[in-house]
Amino acid sequence: MPKPVSRILLVTDDRHWTKPACIRLSAAARALDNPLGIQFVAVADSTQALDLMVNDGDVQAVLIDAALGHGAAAQDARTLVRAVRAHRPELDVYLLVQGSRDEAQLAHWLNEPLTGHFHLQESDYRGWFRILHAQLTQRARTPFYDALKAYVAMAKDAWHTPGHSGGDSLRASPWAGDFHDFMGEHAFRADLSVSVDQLDSLLDPKAVLLESQAMAAKAFGANRTFFATNGTSTANKVIFQTLLIPGDKLLLDRNCHKSVHHGVVLSGALPVYLDSSINPEFGLFGPVPKATLFQAMDDHPDAKAMVLTSCTYDGLCYDLRPIIAKAHAKGIKVIIDEAWFGHARFHPAFRPTALECGADYATQSTHKVLSAFSQASMIHVNDPAFDEHAFRENFNMHASTSPQYSMIASLDVGRRQASMEGYKLLARSLELCDELRAGINATKVFRALTLKELLPAAVRKDGVRLDPTKITIDISGCGLTAQEFQAELFEKHHVQVEKSTFNTVTLLVTIGTTRSKAARLLDALQRMAKAHHTPPKRVRRTPSLAGFTTLAVLPRDAYYAHGELLALLDEDDRPNAALVGRVSADQIVPYPPGIPALVPGQRITPEVLKFLLDLMKAHRRTDMHGMVFEGDVPCMRVLTAAEAKKLALR
Ligand SMILES: Cc1ncc(COP(=O)(O)O)c(C=O)c1O
Repeated sequence: MPKPVSRILLVTDDRHWTKPACIRLSAAARALDNPLGIQFVAVADSTQALDLMVNDGDVQAVLIDAALGHGAAAQDARTLVRAVRAHRPELDVYLLVQGSRDEAQLAHWLNEPLTGHFHLQESDYRGWFRILHAQLTQRARTPFYDALKAYVAMAKDAWHTPGHSGGDSLRASPWAGDFHDFMGEHAFRADLSVSVDQLDSLLDPKAVLLESQAMAAKAFGANRTFFATNGTSTANKVIFQTLLIPGDKLLLDRNCHKSVHHGVVLSGALPVYLDSSINPEFGLFGPVPKATLFQAMDDHPDAKAMVLTSCTYDGLCYDLRPIIAKAHAKGIKVIIDEAWFGHARFHPAFRPTALECGADYATQSTHKVLSAFSQASMIHVNDPAFDEHAFRENFNMHASTSPQYSMIASLDVGRRQASMEGYKLLARSLELCDELRAGINATKVFRALTLKELLPAAVRKDGVRLDPTKITIDISGCGLTAQEFQAELFEKHHVQVEKSTFNTVTLLVTIGTTRSKAARLLDALQRMAKAHHTPPKRVRRTPSLAGFTTLAVLPRDAYYAHGELLALLDEDDRPNAALVGRVSADQIVPYPPGIPALVPGQRITPEVLKFLLDLMKAHRRTDMHGMVFEGDVPCMRVLTAAEAKKLALR
């Protein structure tokens, strides 16, 4: 394993001090234990300091002379502190003070988020080194993962779950031993039970888990962070049930992930669905237009909460600040589903994050973009009125009493990595994204879509940004359908992409994307561009989802109604006219992309039926979650006339 490098930047124009101090700090680093690879670099002004901080991903701490810029250069220590914090909030920032004059000034620094300060006249450089080392060690700690490793090393006999008992049931088995060998010994040794006190409790953390979550909160800029081991799907439901009671009004993007819609059913909320923008040219959904959001907040000032997805699957991020400011002015809580944006805090190219824009809650699938195991997510809370008891009750309702500890450890390590080297890794990802975009466009057949091309017309003026790590490629120039394209890329070139529409595929670049993977992908695209540059075949466009119709019944009431099954087609294979005007009891979700065409309680119109049928014809491989198949006949569960009358919203 390579050793880390931790560069510490000294920023002072006091030349008499710099050279000997640097020599003696470096001597301390050589003489003392230095597992973090601490090195010192001195610069004389803030321009050089900023340059290093931006371009050197190994910088971990900055020591800034409080007197910087008091001379003719007109630099300002305070401006530099703020610039460092704004660019890389994870860094430790110390102030260097000189004598009584600066000491007297320290009171003016109380509002600046400093890690600490040192006296320039002090010559205990070993002491300085020890403090710097201790702070970095603290940031790099992984309390839960450390406790897990320590417990496994204790080799205690297990008289508790899980039944494989540290892998003992498998190791010598002629029938199942291969699974043990494939997964590796530690997968089983670290799979432990809640009976192990040393590993705290996810349902009521008081020790190592509490600490790990607090460290995650600090790293991600939250007041509180909670680890969720059943993905953002569960995280969303927990927040909904915490914030909303039956009948509470909720503003939501109709194209939110299905877990949000499940949260509506579970909480009994009264949803106000907002139609998101659509880019029909590429079959993509975008954000809800700002004007729609603002109007909805004006029309429903009694709404309790609002939920939006930022960034979207395709990487489109809302201009959240004004939206959240308006929501807060109306007393509406804001939940942002950041399932695809967990990396954003660690590089300014992606920021501001939802929390930085003032969101009360943000849910992140850490596993989607950082180094955590699948299903490992985080719930970040900045709500000043956070009701921890209610949250805990709802969290416990959804969380298993037997959480997977390797998943929790991966959240701990994922946070450490993001905090210690996220900036550096993301800078490399961004470089790769630029190279990939240039390489894709150089094929002259494939095209990486720009923000402008991706943006639906309705949100062109809404300040929407693009997360550059989501690369959507227009493949229509190669004459293959998206399915044919994906099959060839997979079979011939061994590349699997994230998702597709009828004429695009989307690549997800993460901190795990390597140069070799990028080179192999570009090579594959060049070969495919050479082989297929026929004029575009007529491809079937994804039918456009009709706007939201009407909510006739509260989703929860519709979902729990008995209902009846009606076929989607009549005997002549035409849309079943008997469905028109009926109320859906289930959520009907074409997958991909997982956005509901109907939610429970929604009135069915001819347009929605046409959409579903067109989609089933155009994309035979689209799953239809919520559709019931009676033999080969697709059916939908709808409310009976009596139920619809009894449950109708007034
Ligand atoms: C916007 C959005 N929210 C939530 C989720 C659910 O996340 P998870 O897979 O972590 O449960 C997804 C999954 O794709 C998603 O796209």
